[in-house]
Amino acid sequence: MIKLPGLIDVHVHLRDPGQTEKEDFFTGTSAAIAGGFTTVLDMPNNKIPITSIKSLKEKQKIAREKTVCDIGFYAGSLGISLEELMKMEPYVFGLKLYLNKTTGNFIIDEKKLIKIFVAWKGKKPILVHAESDMIENVIKLAKKMNKKIHICHVSTKFELKTVIKAKRHGLVVTCGVTPHHLFLSWNDTNKLGPFGMMKPKIEKGYKEFLWENLNWIDVIESDHAPHTIEEKNHPPAGGNPPFGVPGLETTLPLLLTAVSENKLSINRLIELCFENPKRIFNIKTNNNTWVEVDEKKEYIIDNKKLLTKCGWSPFNGWKVKGRVKRVFIRGIKVFEDGKLLVKSGFGEVIKPIW
Ligand code: NCD
Ligand code: ZN
Repeated sequence: MIKLPGLIDVHVHLRDPGQTEKEDFFTGTSAAIAGGFTTVLDMPNNKIPITSIKSLKEKQKIAREKTVCDIGFYAGSLGISLEELMKMEPYVFGLKLYLNKTTGNFIIDEKKLIKIFVAWKGKKPILVHAESDMIENVIKLAKKMNKKIHICHVSTKFELKTVIKAKRHGLVVTCGVTPHHLFLSWNDTNKLGPFGMMKPKIEKGYKEFLWENLNWIDVIESDHAPHTIEEKNHPPAGGNPPFGVPGLETTLPLLLTAVSENKLSINRLIELCFENPKRIFNIKTNNNTWVEVDEKKEYIIDNKKLLTKCGWSPFNGWKVKGRVKRVFIRGIKVFEDGKLLVKSGFGEVIKPIW
């Protein structure tokens, strides 16, 4: 049995409020605990986006009643009502911006980006969904404007090389990679059809490069982005199914499997899923919050056993080695052998400590 600190996932979409047919705070945080994560940071691309203090406070109120693990939030911006940014700042762990098109309509152009960078005066990171050339642009801008940025889900050779170059030049830039970009191949996504469609998409032959350069990666973030089976199977006429795959329950077993294959060490796993997220986002953690895993236990990931409301995983049928046995939060046992032991509202809405 291995004892790990309660892990932190800095990139989840729990869909509450607004799209609770896909996930809600209870099911999403239950999935987190089942996957060994005791703190999650939730993204602002809700149906009514979290771009104002009013929508943020409403979201936090709902979260307080429903979550079972701890949760923190990010602010979003569409480049309007910029005065809202610093009203939200004390209550969030960072600002998330979308520079490429993805689920929801959040894309902002460069002019708006500059205005937002000016308006975001705090020290907390700006997280960007930026793909290919946009990464270079946003890194340049962050350097010029002296902002701390986190590049979400780097997924190609070009993108990671761009980040490495910036880090070598001493810039304050951090980056995350998702388990699906580390474990799914281009062939897998073809077989998965709509259930293998997410942003950024999985390109041919890059996962090896990501593994080889894992030393440059700061965090592993699931980008848990649940959509219903119905929506995935029945896209709107002439359109795409919604992009995104769930990940909270599969990140840790996949990584433990990689540990068993000597692809990474357990210490590096703790760095990527606990220490670095804690440091980058300045998250207060509790010494009595931990996860016990049976590192030798082999099992098959099974859609039917998942706690996420969407009820599917792109890793369904995969054999993994390493299973979450028990989870403790603030000294209280919250999960054992597949069963959640606490009720809605046990989790806390965490406050930034800076
Ligand atoms: C995310 C979603 O569904 O909210 N989808 C995705 O494919 N990653 C949006 C996002 O983070 O890009
Ligand atoms: Zn995301």
